[in-house]
Amino acid sequence: MTNKHNEPPPPQLSVHYHVNNDIFFVFENDCVLTWDYRKHQQFLLNLDYFKELQLIASTGHGNDASIDKELLAANLISEHPYPETKWGWDVLSKIYHIGCQNVGELETGASPAQLAEDYLEYCKQLANNMPNLYTEKPGKLIDLPPPDTTSLNKIPYFDVLKQRKTSRSFNAEPITLEQLSTMLFASFGLIHGEWDEFKDLHLQATAIRKASPASGGLHSEETYVVAYRINGLENGLYHYRPQDHKLTLLQAGNFEDKVISMNMSQFYSKGLACGIYITSRLDKIWWKYKHSKAYRVTMLDIGHVSQTTLLTATALQLKTWMTGAFRDAELEGFLGIDGIKETAVFFIGIGKGSGKAIPDEFLAQFG
Ligand SMILES: Cc1cc2nc3c(=O)[nH]c(=O)nc-3n(C[C@H](O)[C@H](O)[C@H](O)COP(=O)(O)O)c2cc1C
Repeated sequence: MTNKHNEPPPPQLSVHYHVNNDIFFVFENDCVLTWDYRKHQQFLLNLDYFKELQLIASTGHGNDASIDKELLAANLISEHPYPETKWGWDVLSKIYHIGCQNVGELETGASPAQLAEDYLEYCKQLANNMPNLYTEKPGKLIDLPPPDTTSLNKIPYFDVLKQRKTSRSFNAEPITLEQLSTMLFASFGLIHGEWDEFKDLHLQATAIRKASPASGGLHSEETYVVAYRINGLENGLYHYRPQDHKLTLLQAGNFEDKVISMNMSQFYSKGLACGIYITSRLDKIWWKYKHSKAYRVTMLDIGHVSQTTLLTATALQLKTWMTGAFRDAELEGFLGIDGIKETAVFFIGIGKGSGKAIPDEFLAQFG
């Protein structure tokens, strides 16, 4: 082809590329870990590759064809636009949401016999470095009276379901230590004793059985009782030990106002008999489940144990209130946990009162 006006040909731009919009970057020494969270692939890029990606993101064109070829093969760039995902929250939640879907390692396509064999082998390997299933805290041990499980049978089950409502009006009446003991045992305790099926097969128990189901039977939940009005129990912060149904006194004192303040000043929990913080020991879950999808499952575990607690308290004719809104760092300091291996998830308040869902202070606003 001839050039009509003898002008120099225009500079040849490389192909127009698009950068994958489902990736994020983490700087690692002199490289950049590039994480495709939709496809569950990670690439360690040196800075030349990272700069090339940056150039393509801003201009649509690269300047090094051999790098572009590799970026194309890694699906970090494409000649076609990547589909946009419409998402109602911020990027952080989008990364987590998409990054937990279609996780391949959970699906093997193996036969049932092969699956059973693989699973037993997997369990044997896991058992080698199993974390403690039960948490021990330093502090004075407090005996609890035996739980009175017959006291849970006074209200028919369907009535318990109907009576479980969130209350926001408590009257500062105490409950008994026996009620607390029953509540802890039924909701967080070893109601089945040892897990016989493991013992019968001479297998090391890598799981615990309680009233609520739990992922892998790990029961990552830990239970902290803040006692304000329990007859026969000194006010203070306690840790519950399911292994022997005892409490460990972590700190004596009256913490009602502190708890209200930490729980985002939700004043309508004033007058409870006690509060229960439920935490999750993420280190237990890390040990067995390697993908961060397990974080979702952990929250489900705490939800289950929470509902069991709410229904148990209701069966004992007590009122309940709950929140997941608290100042994490301050609460973790109070509970003596690091917020990483063990993290606070939920608070359940238990007490007596009118059962009103709308606090008087709110009603006053309506004149
Ligand atoms: C995960 C979760 C978090 C909640 N957080 C709060 C809270 O911060 N403050 C509050 O007053 N109620 C809280 N609630 C209670 C809900 O508002 C309540 O369950 C809902 O209004 C339905 O009413 P019901 O529990 O009486 O059925 C929470 C409930 C759940 C399950």
